[in-house]
Amino acid sequence: MDTKVWQERMAQATLWVREAGARIRKSMENPLHVETKSNANDLVTNMDKETEQFFVSRIQSHYPEHYILGEEGFGDQLETIEGTVWIIDPIDGTMNFVHQKRHFTISLGVYHDGVGMFGLVYDVMADDLYAAFNGEGATLNNAPLMGVNDADLHTAIVGLNANWLTTNEHMPADALHFLVQKARGVRSYGSAALEIVYVAAGFLDAYATMRLSPWDYAGGLIIAKEAGAVGTTLQGEPLNLLHKQSVLIATPKVHKEIVERLHGASS
Ligand code: IPD
Ligand code: CA
Ligand code: CA
Repeated sequence: MDTKVWQERMAQATLWVREAGARIRKSMENPLHVETKSNANDLVTNMDKETEQFFVSRIQSHYPEHYILGEEGFGDQLETIEGTVWIIDPIDGTMNFVHQKRHFTISLGVYHDGVGMFGLVYDVMADDLYAAFNGEGATLNNAPLMGVNDADLHTAIVGLNANWLTTNEHMPADALHFLVQKARGVRSYGSAALEIVYVAAGFLDAYATMRLSPWDYAGGLIIAKEAGAVGTTLQGEPLNLLHKQSVLIATPKVHKEIVERLHGASS
């Protein structure tokens, strides 16, 4: 399809992302309604739901033939990634949104027959927009991101949720200890989408997690790849946009080092 058509879609989506961000900032003047989902620490608010509905209504009226995969379930139930699919996390980092009022993002990745066409990750309170269009590189607030670092693991800063260092059902509890021991530093920001675009921006050299849903990484993956990073499962396999799985987004050298070390470690 015509590049211009996709560029127009990205421009439209950028306006929506900025408008949704402004609505979230404005909502902070009002009381927040917080509920829990799968467990007491899995939070969802009225703003997660309202923001997803905001996107769904606009996408459906502008692009009725497109599909939507959204965390809060207002989009479609998909069994295939064929066609044009908008993958949305209306608020990534809801715990940060509720407790810190910062460090959360809106994440949007648009795929056509499984190919990432454009990605947008908006750090709402910093007003930082990370973006990428297929084949045209990645930007932060319209300024090109100049490509990822070329660090080795021993000079790398790695984004990692500390939960994965405790007993869990996915890997032996000590499987990722080498990352903490070998990397120069480990950080945990509480928004997967933000941590993935931090790899694109060179603020991190890797982001590793045992379990992530497609909406957590769909937008960031396009941006990170356009900046020169590699994105796979922790075992080095291609990511499947319809399932939860482990995710490793890293600069090429660091990615290779982590995958080689983890070979055979997962359940
Ligand atoms: C969560 C955040 C968090 C990651 C979790 C995600 P949510 O998304 O990205 O950093 O560790 O796995 O579920 O629930 O805030 O949209
Ligand atoms: Ca999320
Ligand atoms: Ca979310």
